[in-house]
Amino acid sequence: MEHSQTRTSEVVRSERLGSDIFRLTVLAPWIAEAAQPGQFVMVQPADGQDPLLRRPFSIHQVTGAGAVQILFKVVGRGTSLLSRIRQGGQLNVIGPFGKGFALPSGVEENICLIGGGMGIAPLLFLAKRLIGRSAVVGCRLVALLGARTGSELTVLQGEFQQLGLATAIATDDGSSGHHGLVTQLMLQNMAPGDAWRVYTCGPHPMMRGVVEICQGMAWPCQVSLETMMACGMGACLGCAITNPKDPNSYLHVCKDGPVFEMSEVAWR
Ligand SMILES: Cc1cc2nc3c(=O)[nH]c(=O)nc-3n(C[C@H](O)[C@H](O)[C@H](O)COP(=O)(O)OP(=O)(O)OC[C@H]3O[C@@H](n4cnc5c(N)ncnc54)[C@H](O)[C@@H]3O)c2cc1C
Ligand code: FES
Repeated sequence: MEHSQTRTSEVVRSERLGSDIFRLTVLAPWIAEAAQPGQFVMVQPADGQDPLLRRPFSIHQVTGAGAVQILFKVVGRGTSLLSRIRQGGQLNVIGPFGKGFALPSGVEENICLIGGGMGIAPLLFLAKRLIGRSAVVGCRLVALLGARTGSELTVLQGEFQQLGLATAIATDDGSSGHHGLVTQLMLQNMAPGDAWRVYTCGPHPMMRGVVEICQGMAWPCQVSLETMMACGMGACLGCAITNPKDPNSYLHVCKDGPVFEMSEVAWR
């Protein structure tokens, strides 16, 4: 299959957005053309087998010039190696994989994007696609972003604002925006009587909190899950989660997701 073929791609831009947060722009027109918000790519440095496995990253943005961006935090060996790649370096990138966010077809609801940490990555691509659609003209578009500390959000917040989204932030240390959880921003920015459609990605406890509020308000919500992934294309069981509709079967996050309707996920 075309999207699972290994190809070497040139890194055309390497940015450091925070002390341990990086963004790579990679020339991969075959991915940029096909990508939908919420899908992901599997990435590996091109200069060898270290680390052996590819690592999954959400598609953060695509450009008309055929480039794909990933945004990541250094948490281990793979992301540490990726953080050292500079402009002109090479990556093996395959994708796009998975099922992305379903875009609304009508103008029934306001739309809120809620991201925590690196879960913000796919939401910028989603925001750009939503803005390009006539179906959302006249809707309120809001981004609620959470992180450990304000410096992790400075660049990203500005980019959501430049797109015209009303943006509010929450930080664990109170260094910027609301001091506390991003879910608390929901109650401040989304009037209970209004119709909202929610898209969220971030740490599991954050998304569980978002889902509890959405269930209480009867707001539709799609969640993008992160699990460990070895193959990214349905060939191992690394990403299996319980299927709430049939506890004896599993869903594969890489193939059935990573985006699910909130009702498709067992939250407890
Ligand atoms: C669909 C999908 C999209 C993702 N998108 C992004 C993204 O846009 N930006 C980003 O920074 N990260 C993203 N991740 C997580 C990213 O894949 C991991 O951070 C990365 O694989 C870590 O590799 P490593 O070799 O640096 O760390 P490792 O040495 O493999 O692990 C370091 C630590 O991180 C934990 N860890 C590793 N992978 C995951 C995971 N998938 N979920 C939870 N904990 C994990 C390990 O348990 C360990 O404690 C995504 C994951 C998935 C499944
Ligand atoms: S990561 Fe291998 S089946 Fe999903």
